[in-house]
Amino acid sequence: MSAVKPQQTSPSAAVFTLRGSLLTLSIITIVSFTYISFKFLNFPSLQSPGSPLTFNFKVKNEADLVPADGSADASDNEYGNVFHSPKVFRLNYEEMETRFKVYMYSEGDPNTYYQTPRKLTGKYASEGFFFQNLRESNYVTDDPNLADLFFIPISCHKMRGKGISYENMTIIVQNYVDTLISKYPYWNRTLGADHFFVTCHDVGVRATEGLPNLIKNSIRVVCSPSYDVGFIPHKDVALPQVLQPFALPAGGNDVENRTILGFWAGHRNSKIRVVLARVWENDTELDISNNRINRATGHLEYQRRFYKTKFCICPGGSQVNSARITDSIHYGCIPVILSDFYDLPFNDILDWRKFAVVLRERDVYQLKQILKNITQEEFVTLHNNLVEVQKHFQWNSPPVKQDSFHMVMYELWLRHYVIKY
Ligand SMILES: *[C@@H]1O[C@H](CO)[C@@H](O)[C@H](O)[C@H]1NC(C)=O
Ligand SMILES: *[C@@H]1O[C@H](CO)[C@@H](O)[C@H](O)[C@H]1NC(C)=O
Ligand SMILES: *[C@@H]1O[C@H](CO)[C@@H](O)[C@H](O)[C@H]1NC(C)=O
Ligand SMILES: *[C@@H]1O[C@H](CO)[C@@H](O)[C@H](O)[C@H]1NC(C)=O
Ligand SMILES: *[C@@H]1O[C@H](CO)[C@@H](O)[C@H](O)[C@H]1NC(C)=O
Repeated sequence: MSAVKPQQTSPSAAVFTLRGSLLTLSIITIVSFTYISFKFLNFPSLQSPGSPLTFNFKVKNEADLVPADGSADASDNEYGNVFHSPKVFRLNYEEMETRFKVYMYSEGDPNTYYQTPRKLTGKYASEGFFFQNLRESNYVTDDPNLADLFFIPISCHKMRGKGISYENMTIIVQNYVDTLISKYPYWNRTLGADHFFVTCHDVGVRATEGLPNLIKNSIRVVCSPSYDVGFIPHKDVALPQVLQPFALPAGGNDVENRTILGFWAGHRNSKIRVVLARVWENDTELDISNNRINRATGHLEYQRRFYKTKFCICPGGSQVNSARITDSIHYGCIPVILSDFYDLPFNDILDWRKFAVVLRERDVYQLKQILKNITQEEFVTLHNNLVEVQKHFQWNSPPVKQDSFHMVMYELWLRHYVIKY
């Protein structure tokens, strides 16, 4: 088994058995529309002959995108090795920058749960950055007639701060969305298909769970894109959870300092973590501990360990996603995704197999052998690619080209083709 082989095709089967036929039908409908609309774009993730819900998207061969006369566009080289299709990305990205327009509802009191959360730190940083970046960007239009998509600016995490129950959160969100539906004509035109909302972490997911219209019709941009919380790939967008500011600078080009094979330290709050700790906690080559590193061990020792490690194990926790993945990327440690049912952020744009090791949970028993099987040469390639993607998993204010904000906007831009009113 090599690090760059596609794996994990089983979730699709599980999803079909778990989901009701109605939802399956709606997914198929969405995907067929997507397919038709993207056909001319060679949108990579939809080229696979298999189920549209497979975890790893099979990519159309790069050669398929080279024009018939064999000429390749030199400017695609700047995008390196990590894109499924640099050419498709470049063309669409440029178009997005010049044409994409979003209408942001101005409804709702900014002092409560609407408009613009200012918090740019902690677990909800991704949500805060998105609101701020969008607001300050040229993507926003005041003219709904020019809009490709409509943004529902609700920020659920503030409700948690006020101690509101999940039931009441649902009611608050419902009332807000109902107001938009009755006051403006836009939702009814597509039943919300050209509307999106953005929420990081569990609160927003929970608060919107009771609203089938919102979940099934509009685009959810969420930090915990697990199939078992109703995430619909190709409709919804996986938002990377990034814990900013980072405690230490980015790692990279430092492979000689990476002497630990694998590292994980965290809480055993999921089945896979319990197994991981049980199987490997006393291993001499894998640095696995079922507790966060004690502060007494040294200042920022947890973060420093990422610099010294080749592969950082990212098992799903109570929520599938965690900032550990983006921490690993930032510190230059190859993330080892050990989680079933997880749609990785930007995985229809970036080829995760080029900069991460994606495993099934049952691979945990072979973890050491799998990592040891990866040659030094393969590891260096993964590491170099990882350094290339660091910028995509980082938020900035103001945003910079191809950072997390623009990657999320790009994902939304791809979806607007499907549902443009
Ligand atoms: C490691 O590589 C060997 C030789 O290529 C192979 O036989 C073995 O199955 C691999 N082990 C794992 C766990 O991938
Ligand atoms: C939920 O809302 C109801 C009605 O407004 C209120 O009476 C109740 O105290 C709220 N509960 C919580 C936990 O916020
Ligand atoms: C949209 O449709 C709903 C349900 O049919 C209706 O109650 C609402 O008034 C409509 N909105 C507008 C702006 O017409
Ligand atoms: C490797 O580690 C040493 C000691 O911590 C440090 O001084 C050096 O800068 C590191 N090398 C790289 C390339 O980061
Ligand atoms: C690891 O070592 C500790 C201390 O010797 C022991 O209590 C524990 O059972 C060991 N764990 C495993 C999985 O062997």
